[in-house]
Amino acid sequence: MGLISLVKELLMAFFFMCSVQFWRMALLWSFSVLFSYYRLFKASLSQWLVFKPVILDKCPFFSQKLVSYPRCSPFTSNFRPVCVVTGATSGLGLAAAYKLSKEGYVVAIVGRSQQLLSETIRKIKDSNEDAHLKAFQVDMSSIESIIKFKMSLRQWLLDSDLHCSLQLLINNAGILATSPRVTAEGYDQMIGTNYIGAFALTKLLLPLLESSPVSSKIVNVTSFTHRAVTDVQVDEGTVSGKRFLRSIQYPYAQIYEYSKLYLILFSKELHRQLCLMGKSHQIFVNVADPGVVQTNLMREVPTILSSLALRVLKFLQLLQFPESGVDSIIDAALAPPGTSGAYYFGGKGRTINPSALSHNAKLARELWESTSKLLSVTPFGAEGNSW
Ligand SMILES: NC(=O)c1ccc[n+]([C@@H]2O[C@H](COP(=O)([O-])OP(=O)(O)OC[C@H]3O[C@@H](n4cnc5c(N)ncnc54)[C@H](OP(=O)(O)O)[C@@H]3O)[C@@H](O)[C@H]2O)c1
Repeated sequence: MGLISLVKELLMAFFFMCSVQFWRMALLWSFSVLFSYYRLFKASLSQWLVFKPVILDKCPFFSQKLVSYPRCSPFTSNFRPVCVVTGATSGLGLAAAYKLSKEGYVVAIVGRSQQLLSETIRKIKDSNEDAHLKAFQVDMSSIESIIKFKMSLRQWLLDSDLHCSLQLLINNAGILATSPRVTAEGYDQMIGTNYIGAFALTKLLLPLLESSPVSSKIVNVTSFTHRAVTDVQVDEGTVSGKRFLRSIQYPYAQIYEYSKLYLILFSKELHRQLCLMGKSHQIFVNVADPGVVQTNLMREVPTILSSLALRVLKFLQLLQFPESGVDSIIDAALAPPGTSGAYYFGGKGRTINPSALSHNAKLARELWESTSKLLSVTPFGAEGNSW
């Protein structure tokens, strides 16, 4: 690195550190991940001390007990199961796509760059030559792109010798944007990608998930950072992120936390609605939190700071690589039929409780309504309400 670029890098890091958002990320996120591990440890200890058989209620969303679920490989004898993994061109999504291909899934790989999609296919094929993969170029922050994807996916299934249904959807695509950007629909790009895109895609793919001859699953990839939120608004201005685009200083850490909390609340409300419609035995919804994983997620954070953070996290033994960090996602994807509403964290099939705020059923309902209202004025309005 030349002297000028080093000075530039140092200055960028200095200004970055001068923001409240940086300290929010450095302090609150560290506490949040430590708190998740504390919960895991406490629950494991109490389960070890007092063995209690686990009884599953009919709709046990975010059960209070620590429950470990075994993994169940997909049912593959009569047909090949199909899964969709968003953000599969890097980090956790790539690791999930590889592991699911090894489990016998036909994996629909969703990414926004055609070049990265081709590279992803090559990388997975290099390690698993029997992998059945299909790449789809989709921008998860664009409603139009998501609608097009639903149509191409359906057409591809119809044209193939596969059953025209979906057994698994993993909403993994996500970004940590440190500067404001706007989507075609006028949403904040981070909320648009991390939450609204996942909401829209899930609703659009529900008919395919419902058509599955065996039960199907939805896994929403969230984060321990949701614990940093103590109060949240779910009005349309906040949910779309438009409110933040007007701020003098872009509250990126807070928006990321909101998007991850929204995903949990969305999962909760979707699960409730499936229960009400008597479909909760057909489609299961779970949430996965990978912990801290070394991926490209911090790409917008100055390199000096992200490398320093990774060193500290590694020293504290909190840092994982995608190969093991993906465990909670795979646990949720291969959860035994009947498991719904669990928050997977820490691998080995273990689940813990998310934050108290994410249990708020009223908030979850209001969030659903605000998001549906936002989407009703987009092309999704006609498409997404068919379910
Ligand atoms: N890493 C962690 O410590 C951690 C912890 C908790 C939760 N998570 C969550 O895990 C998920 C995966 O993140 P990661 O850590 O694996 O980060 P990553 O390496 O940056 O991967 C993110 C993936 O999402 C894709 N993506 C981003 N915006 C997209 C868009 N508009 N349309 C389609 N795809 C898009 C990226 O594609 P491009 O390569 O084209 O950008 C990439 O494939 C995220 O939801 C993240 O919030 C991560």
